Amino acid sequence: LKGLTAYLDRYVGAEKYFCVTDETVAGLYLENLKGQLPLSDIYICSPGEAAKSFTIYEDICEKFLGQSMTRKSAIIALGGGVVGDMAGFVAATVLRGVKFVQIPTTLLAQVDSSVGGKTAINSKAGKNLIGAFYQPELVIADTHVLKTLPPRQIYAGYGEILKYALIDYPEFFEWLDKNADKVLRGEPAALSKAIRKSCEKKAEIVAADERESGQRALLNLGHTFAHALEKEAGYDGALLHGEAVLIGMMMAMEFSVDLGVCDPQDLQRLKAHYDRYDLMPDYKIKSDAETLLNVMAKDKKNIGGSIVFILLRGIGKAYVETSVSRNDAKEFLVKFLKAIQG
Ligand code: NAD
Ligand code: GLY
Repeated sequence: LKGLTAYLDRYVGAEKYFCVTDETVAGLYLENLKGQLPLSDIYICSPGEAAKSFTIYEDICEKFLGQSMTRKSAIIALGGGVVGDMAGFVAATVLRGVKFVQIPTTLLAQVDSSVGGKTAINSKAGKNLIGAFYQPELVIADTHVLKTLPPRQIYAGYGEILKYALIDYPEFFEWLDKNADKVLRGEPAALSKAIRKSCEKKAEIVAADERESGQRALLNLGHTFAHALEKEAGYDGALLHGEAVLIGMMMAMEFSVDLGVCDPQDLQRLKAHYDRYDLMPDYKIKSDAETLLNVMAKDKKNIGGSIVFILLRGIGKAYVETSVSRNDAKEFLVKFLKAIQG
C-alpha cells in the first residue's frame, strides 16, 4: 500500500476517490489510505455477508451521487470479498459505470474475488443473483494486511488457492504439498508466491472466457457442493465460503472416484494433503442428502434439468460434467454424509 498514489496515478487517474470499506478493515487500514490520498467520501458498512444487500447498495449509490461525483471519479473497495463484490456492483452501475479499484484485505479476496470482474449483491432468492461482470482498473494485494486476518480466514483463502492447483496446475499442487505450512503461517515469500500463482491462473482462465460460457465454469470446482452446504449453514459465519469450498473439493474428488473417472490414488494424495495441513474444516454437516440435492438442483449454473458438477479426472484435471444422474448424486451424498456424520 506504500505506493498507492503512484499506482493510482499510473493506472486510474481519477479526479476523486470514494472508498467503500467495513468497520473492521476501516479500524485497521483506513488511516493508512487517508494519509496518502484525499478521499472525497467514505462508506463504512458492518462486516459480514449481510452487507451485500439492496439497502446497502442503495445507500452507497446515494452517498456517492450526493457528493457530486462524476464519471471521472473512482470507487475504491478496501476489504474482503463482501466489500469488493458490493463496491464493484456500485461501480458497475452508478452513472452507468465509474472506474473501480480493489484493495483486497483477505486472502480469499486477494486470490479470487478481486480478480476476474464478478461483482454482485444478494437477493432473497439466493446469493450473488444480482450483479455484473465489471473489471477493476487496478488490484493492489498487499500481503502485510493479512497479518491481522484470523487464522480461520487464512485457511478459507487457502481453499481457493488449492482450487487452482486442482483445476489444471499439477506443478502448483506439488509445490503446495511441500509448502502449504509456510503459506498458512504467512511466511512472506511463500505467501506472495501462492497469491501470484493463483492470480495468474485465474486471470488466464477468465481472459479466455470472461462471461463463463465455457472454461470459466472450472473455477466452480467444489462449489456445487459448497453452495448447498453454505445455504444450509446460513450465512452467519458458521461455515465460511472458503471452508465450504474445502469440503466441496474433497466431495468432488470422492464423487469422481465413485463415478469411475478418477484414479483413487489421486484421492489418497488429496486426503494426505488435507491431513498433513489440517485443512478439513471443523464443521458438522447437519443436512441430509435429499435436502442438499434439492438446493443443488436450484443452482443458477445448472443447465436444463441437470445439475452441473465440476469433476476431476485427477489432480490438475478438472472438467465440466452436465450428465450426472440424480440417483448417482444422491447415492454419493448418502455415502459421504454417513461416513462423516457417523
Ligand atoms: P469478508 O469480506 O466477509 O471478510 C471476512 C472478515 O474478515 C470480515 O469480518 C472482515 O471485516 C474481516 N477482514 C477483512 N480483512 C481483514 C484484515 N486484513 N484483518 C482482519 N480482518 C479482516 O469475506 P471474504 O472471505 O473475503 O469474501 C467472501 C465474499 O466473497 C462472499 O460474499 C463471496 O460471495 C464473495 N466471493 C466473490 C468472488 C468473485 O469472484 N467475485 C469469489 C469468491 C467469493
Ligand atoms: N469465483 C468464481 C469466478 O470468478 O468465476
